[in-house]
Amino acid sequence: MRILSVVGARPQFIKAAALSTALRARGHTEFLVHTGQHYDAAMSDVFFQELGIPEPDSNLNAGSGRHGEMTGAMLAGIEKLCIEQKPDVVLVYGDTNSTLAGALAAAKLNIPVAHVEAGLRSFNREMPEEINRVVTDHVSTWLFCPSPVSAENLAREGITRGVHIVGDLMCDTLLRAAKIARDKPSIVSKMNLPERGFALATIHRASNTDDEKTLRGLLHALTHAGMPVVFPMHPRCRARVEAFGLQDSLAHPNLRVIDPVGYLEMVQFLAAAKCVLTDSGGLQKEAYWMHVPCVTLRDESEWTETVSSGWNHIAGTDPDKILSIIRNVSTPAAHPDFYGAGDAAERISRALAEG
Ligand code: UD1
Ligand code: UDP
Repeated sequence: MRILSVVGARPQFIKAAALSTALRARGHTEFLVHTGQHYDAAMSDVFFQELGIPEPDSNLNAGSGRHGEMTGAMLAGIEKLCIEQKPDVVLVYGDTNSTLAGALAAAKLNIPVAHVEAGLRSFNREMPEEINRVVTDHVSTWLFCPSPVSAENLAREGITRGVHIVGDLMCDTLLRAAKIARDKPSIVSKMNLPERGFALATIHRASNTDDEKTLRGLLHALTHAGMPVVFPMHPRCRARVEAFGLQDSLAHPNLRVIDPVGYLEMVQFLAAAKCVLTDSGGLQKEAYWMHVPCVTLRDESEWTETVSSGWNHIAGTDPDKILSIIRNVSTPAAHPDFYGAGDAAERISRALAEG
């Protein structure tokens, strides 16, 4: 099968790391498009290098800008490539603007869309990602769900054909990377962080970074967590900290602000952290797989299984509530395999081959 895959943002590189290899191993022909949504070396190149992702066949350089502007540039670029490459299927990952652009470009050309991570819902239409997910699912022919819950979400919207529950590609990548990360010099020791005595934090959701009061409250919570907090700062968050003049809120001996790190360093942090504080979707799952309790800095989670199992706590953005949850995090005894066993890439490539 000729597959045109679209990636553009950090979590998509991590998913493609598992799937691109599996697709090619099964004899599919892949044309890999990088939309350029993420473009800094620490947000893009590092993942291609560390995880051995094939070099993109095309880069649209469509990063930054407003949603319409960015999505429009990607849409035009992907449409042109689809016309040239004539793929049998366009494969998109997750819920970013790159996902939406790939799905729309293909659907308008009557090319079947394969959506990896289909059926996730926050039920919050103010999130740009929720719009991207819903639209993408409704124009997709192949809907690859990470778990039964996501397939049930699709069924509630009337989508039952083409739905495959395959597990989560991020689990595939994590299992592979954890082995490599173990043999590399540890960033945890380099930074003198106490094993199981520090928190790993990330913040990048628009609703958290773009509102000054919310961002100030979150930074307050990070600095008062009662333990060292390592905080690889997403460029969006850094830009807002600077724009709001919040640099002083970062000046606290417990807060270790660093640039975004590569995936292997992230896995090293995860392997040694006491807890994770995040608004990231991917990191909520990775914390779960690494048996690290997670405090989610949002009012809802798409990864509801991690919450109902007691490993993930929805804290919202109120600093007092966040701090009280951090003080009480514990490690539940049960840890079911909600999102497959690390064989999602194999299952997706097989399903595509079987047609
Ligand atoms: C995007 C996705 C979000 C995903 C996240 C993963 C959308 C709507 N959002 O959010 O779903 O969780 O990626 O990280 O698609 N920037 C840089 N360098 C970069 C990338 C971004 O400086 O390499 C800055 C730019 O100022 C840019 C801003 O970050 O305008 C936001 O980037 P954008 O890709 O629009 O959204 P994210 O917040 O990264
Ligand atoms: N990640 C990383 N380096 C960082 C921060 C995050 O490698 O400095 C990884 C993280 O482990 C996860 C993915 O990036 O695999 C999540 O991306 P992000 O939080 O940007 O997006 P989301 O998952 O929320 O869409």
